[in-house]
Amino acid sequence: MKKFAGTSVVILGAVAVIAAMVVSGAAASPAKKSAGIQVCGLMPDTKTSVRWEQFDKPALIKSFKAAGISARVVNAQGDPQKQKTQADQCIADGAKVLIIAPIDSGSAASIEKAALKKGVKSIDYDRQVEGGSAVLYASFNGHTVGVLQGKAVANALKGKKGAVVAELNGGQEDANAFLFKGGYDSILKPLYKSGALKAGPDQFVPGWDNQKAGTIFEQMLIKTGNKIDGVAAANDGIANAVVVALKAHQLDPIPLSGQDATTQGVQNIISGWQTMTVFKDVRKLASAAAKAAVAIVKGKTIPTTGVVHTKGRGIEKAYLIPPQSITKANYKLLFTSGFLKKGDVCNGDYTQYCK
Ligand code: BGC
Repeated sequence: MKKFAGTSVVILGAVAVIAAMVVSGAAASPAKKSAGIQVCGLMPDTKTSVRWEQFDKPALIKSFKAAGISARVVNAQGDPQKQKTQADQCIADGAKVLIIAPIDSGSAASIEKAALKKGVKSIDYDRQVEGGSAVLYASFNGHTVGVLQGKAVANALKGKKGAVVAELNGGQEDANAFLFKGGYDSILKPLYKSGALKAGPDQFVPGWDNQKAGTIFEQMLIKTGNKIDGVAAANDGIANAVVVALKAHQLDPIPLSGQDATTQGVQNIISGWQTMTVFKDVRKLASAAAKAAVAIVKGKTIPTTGVVHTKGRGIEKAYLIPPQSITKANYKLLFTSGFLKKGDVCNGDYTQYCK
């Protein structure tokens, strides 16, 4: 694998030289076609979750290699215009399939439609592209993710009648944020209704921005006079913003959900600051997306597990993978499955929790 400023390429056989030239910028004109690239993976950003760079990118590169396809994986750093430019470059370089994790549906839908006009097919990767034209949605079951999050927070507050639960949802630009919220609300709302729990402040975090999540949670603390007893937080980055705020105010740990099974999330779990995270084995997702891309390139049937309803376009074929809840009781499976390295989690201050 060669790396060029944020761009990773899998280069196979005779196309190596051409592909290397294209990626290094030697063949600058986007109009120039190269047979070097068959598929592109377009990742959204590096800041809303470490997953895109740390898990998805290497898993995709590995899967493309295993499938014998030449591919490139790039990251748009949260800039929709950049994602469009990256997509155009991929197509100019010969890509027949775009695997796209959108930043927002509007911009990604226009990428997909423009690609289709040139005979290039798209796969919605992890996030649905509303109004798009992808041939497959490859992801995890987002509703189940939210159910696992809601159950963990509710269980941890069992017997604490009227405990106040705040919700820190993902970004409204992302269809997933609504799937996750729908999942945890399906557990929490009946409990609010019965009086077992009390609905606290409930806010979306624009663009999944972890820093904004911290500011929003600080405001929630002020608004409630610190009376927040649990938080349904949509991912590990948002959960960590809660942990940082609680520590800053010398408040005790409270039931708190997360998602992505990140190193930091697991460190917060083992040290008692986060209740759970959701393990989405991105290696399975990357492999499914790569297999679908191969099927598209070869004109074969794409494997699916069912369909989803995607706003602005209706039924979309889907390949959905079940997510798994991770707590203090089972976090070690992340090491045995090779998803995380024990040495990354169990170091420094955290060594003491890794008995
Ligand atoms: C993904 C999550 C991720 C979040 C922020 C969601 O669409 O499903 O895994 O944490 O975006 O990047």
